[in-house]
Amino acid sequence: MSKNCENAPRVCKNALICALGTQFDGVFVQVFDKIDSTNTEAKRMVENGFLGDALLVAHSQTAGRGRMGRSFYSPAATGAYFSILHTLTTPLCDAVAITSAASVAVMRAIRSLTGIQTQIKWVNDLYYNEKKVCGILTEAVSTGESTHVIVGIGINLDTADFPRELTGIAGSLGAHVDTNALIAKICCEIAFYLQNPTAREWLSDYRAHSCVIGRRVAWLEGENTRIGIAESIDEDGALLIKDEQNKLIRLHTGEISLRPLKD
Ligand code: BTN
Repeated sequence: MSKNCENAPRVCKNALICALGTQFDGVFVQVFDKIDSTNTEAKRMVENGFLGDALLVAHSQTAGRGRMGRSFYSPAATGAYFSILHTLTTPLCDAVAITSAASVAVMRAIRSLTGIQTQIKWVNDLYYNEKKVCGILTEAVSTGESTHVIVGIGINLDTADFPRELTGIAGSLGAHVDTNALIAKICCEIAFYLQNPTAREWLSDYRAHSCVIGRRVAWLEGENTRIGIAESIDEDGALLIKDEQNKLIRLHTGEISLRPLKD
């Protein structure tokens, strides 16, 4: 940690910028003690005309957002909560796999800094000891003149107490980690994929550390719950499922739940 940050909370802007290195020269970096949501702040920046790339980090969020309109519990100083805002120079469809690539970036950074091997639950949740320890919310924003991608990441580092509704579902890594180094490592890898959207170097790890391949899964199709066996993951990160009629289904997005072999 840099000299200026000795008594600082987990994330220190100077140490973070230092850890990010030259790859992030010219990227706007801001660290908030408390904010509603770093993804929401990124959206506000775009609405106010921001063009370029930014990294927004918060020590806590009062209205952290998750996928499917859910909230993301973001208590002070026990997690890493941050959003990467990227102004696209290529068509939005090129960024289709960024959310899967981001989960691999987080998985690798956690492993390299703590030795902990997490598992990826399609699309992009990370699990450790059967509990969710990281969620990723990717959003696209268009102003008419420019299109932006926001990749928001929340990692429970050593959150000990969760609200009752998350008991048994959410967990934490229980690891002491240099949060500046962790965020920087993740951001640098994601930045590479944002610059090289057709790269598929993440795919082998995405498949190898998936906790859904070969498992019986359920998903919603309209109002109906469908059941099948997750067979594999294709080049774009879509999940290939063999349904109960042996038909191959390709899920691009959405959510699955893991089911026991027999109900
Ligand atoms: C999920 O679990 O469904 C996704 C959770 C994403 C949480 C992160 S924390 C930083 C960023 N700001 C938010 O409001 N959400 C994302």
